[in-house]
Amino acid sequence: MLNDKKNEPAKSIFVANVKGGVGKSTLSIMLARALAKLMPPQNITVIDTDLQRTATEFLTVSNPEINVEFLPITPAFENTNISLVQQFIKQNEFKTGHVVIVDTPAGSSQRLWNLVAEGYCVLIPTTLSNADLLPTENFIRSMDKVKARYAKSLPHLVVCPNKIPFGQKDFSLMAERLKNHDVVIGPALRDLASVRHFYNGRTESWEKKSDGNAKNDFEKFGSFVQKYVLNGKLDKIYNEKNVEENIIPFGKVKN
Ligand SMILES: Nc1ncnc2c1ncn2[C@@H]1O[C@H](COP(=O)(O)OP(=O)(O)O)[C@@H](O)[C@H]1O
Ligand SMILES: [Mg+2]
Repeated sequence: MLNDKKNEPAKSIFVANVKGGVGKSTLSIMLARALAKLMPPQNITVIDTDLQRTATEFLTVSNPEINVEFLPITPAFENTNISLVQQFIKQNEFKTGHVVIVDTPAGSSQRLWNLVAEGYCVLIPTTLSNADLLPTENFIRSMDKVKARYAKSLPHLVVCPNKIPFGQKDFSLMAERLKNHDVVIGPALRDLASVRHFYNGRTESWEKKSDGNAKNDFEKFGSFVQKYVLNGKLDKIYNEKNVEENIIPFGKVKN
């Protein structure tokens, strides 16, 4: 296997944003699939906390070798399932080389944010439109507040530009908007035609429709997560004093 850091402690990655439709479930699924090519798939667990079951339905068909747990966090189940997710993550911490990816629902429950803040890393997909960027900034602000309240440096917050027009390479406007927050900007995912048809067909037909662009972007994203999140490079970046500012896609945005 390509993962040379077998002794890295287990990590939990939440995919979250207060906004719906920004690509959380798609990113959770595609990240799990990309990582399954880079590490033993039995070391990957996806916890689907969205009542829509998108991740569960897709992954159980496409990648039965990846563990999937369905623990919906809705007002009705909130208390029980939040504790179950917490427990799962705690138990998993002792399994070196494991990763838990948690797909979360949209919405702004404080209990959910407290749970997300217990993770090692939060991936925050957003488009560049104001309709998504404004709530995303608010979400980052609430995460920063939870971290400050408990005086924690984790989780790492990684903004993931999603549905980006082909050819767009300049993310300086986004970096400028986020410069007062403790975030990193991850590699962009383009507006992928095949992903837009994601929910239309069954998994097998999506496999046929998915093009080289989708493969390329999600593979890149998977490698980014392996190197920077799972293998601890983000920790190193945060521990260094002389971080170059605004290096897109991997730079830490200046405070
Ligand atoms: N990179 C992308 N390119 C094109 N469409 C995308 C992309 N990522 C997500 N989508 C589409 O956006 C919609 C919402 O995605 P979804 O993952 O369900 O978001 P969320 O889980 O945040 O509600 C879906 O129709 C999905 O196919
Ligand atoms: Mg979703």
